[in-house]
Amino acid sequence: MSVNSNKPCLLTGDTPTGRLHLGHWVGSIENRIALQESYDCYFLLANAHAFTTREDQPQAVRESTLDIALDYLSVGIEPEKSCIFIESEVPAIYELATWLSMLIPYPRLMRNPTIKDEIRDKKLGHHYSMGFLWYPILQVSDILSFKAELVPVGEDQIPHLELTREVARRFNQLYCGVSSHSKDEDSLEQGGVFPVVEWKLGRTNRLVGLGGPAENGQLLKMSKSFNNAIFLSDPPDIVQKKVMSMYTDPKRLRASDPGTVENNPLWIFHDAFNPDKGWVESMKEKYRNGEVGDVACKKKLVDLLVALLEPIQKRRAEYKRESGYVLRVLQRGAEKANQVAEKTLKEVKEKIHQIY
Ligand code: TRP
Repeated sequence: MSVNSNKPCLLTGDTPTGRLHLGHWVGSIENRIALQESYDCYFLLANAHAFTTREDQPQAVRESTLDIALDYLSVGIEPEKSCIFIESEVPAIYELATWLSMLIPYPRLMRNPTIKDEIRDKKLGHHYSMGFLWYPILQVSDILSFKAELVPVGEDQIPHLELTREVARRFNQLYCGVSSHSKDEDSLEQGGVFPVVEWKLGRTNRLVGLGGPAENGQLLKMSKSFNNAIFLSDPPDIVQKKVMSMYTDPKRLRASDPGTVENNPLWIFHDAFNPDKGWVESMKEKYRNGEVGDVACKKKLVDLLVALLEPIQKRRAEYKRESGYVLRVLQRGAEKANQVAEKTLKEVKEKIHQIY
């Protein structure tokens, strides 16, 4: 159960390096909205995480933090039900991270495949900062400060959640007398401070972007840094422009050429966003046989995406009009988050005998 309600606790977050896009939507946002009623929810803007690679762009991180908060409200996260807050407004998270870091062997951190991928994809070489290596520890602390039981995330975050589970078990065993043979689900009953968290993946874990494949032939995931994203805040004309120029089957020059459906972003998008599965299957068949053009299938996709985004953008405009609203939501969120995180920190310090 959550620290301050009788519902279980759900927490997740985003690193503010842009606005939210369709990859976030199918990967995690849908789940957050669906679970908002049955969980005590915390949605965190991981602004310090953004500094791990953007320490030279503080103003951009600030703008993105506020932009994503606005995105949260626009997709239907309701501040009366869910707590939206900025990580750095809750300093207890950073203090807890210090204590927890002692439980994480350095080589264990360096084996984290997401860290390795990021070093490669962002071309960090040997220049990554100490703070960059610190961020998975911060993420562990984000989750454990709230004793979250469920974290909706994309696939690439699983290594961080595995680390969180290991730290929770280790803390419970080392300081709370929980037996190493006890089951994860019994850890609280046995006197542990931390539940062993579970993750929940979205229905599409890795939405591809609009562009073509990378050097290795694989389609890139949708990401602001690859410049291949449709943002939740993109107006209809931009959605249209992006979809009409998206990568499809490069071998297909006219509508009468047989087309390939597999690994084709056009059809990956229809699979993800078109609720009419019958239409999708019959059009795929026609596409394969050279009986329907890219343009017609793209137009259909534009209509679907514009309809999906319309209510989100309507709410976005309303919230934006109300001056100071987002900041007030964040301030209220931080108040609640501070109460919970401070309570957890106090409990931890008692367990490790460091209250003087
Ligand atoms: N690392 C996550 C990302 O970049 C963001 C994040 C920070 C997060 N803290 C978290 C996700 C806690 C889940 C739980 O997407």
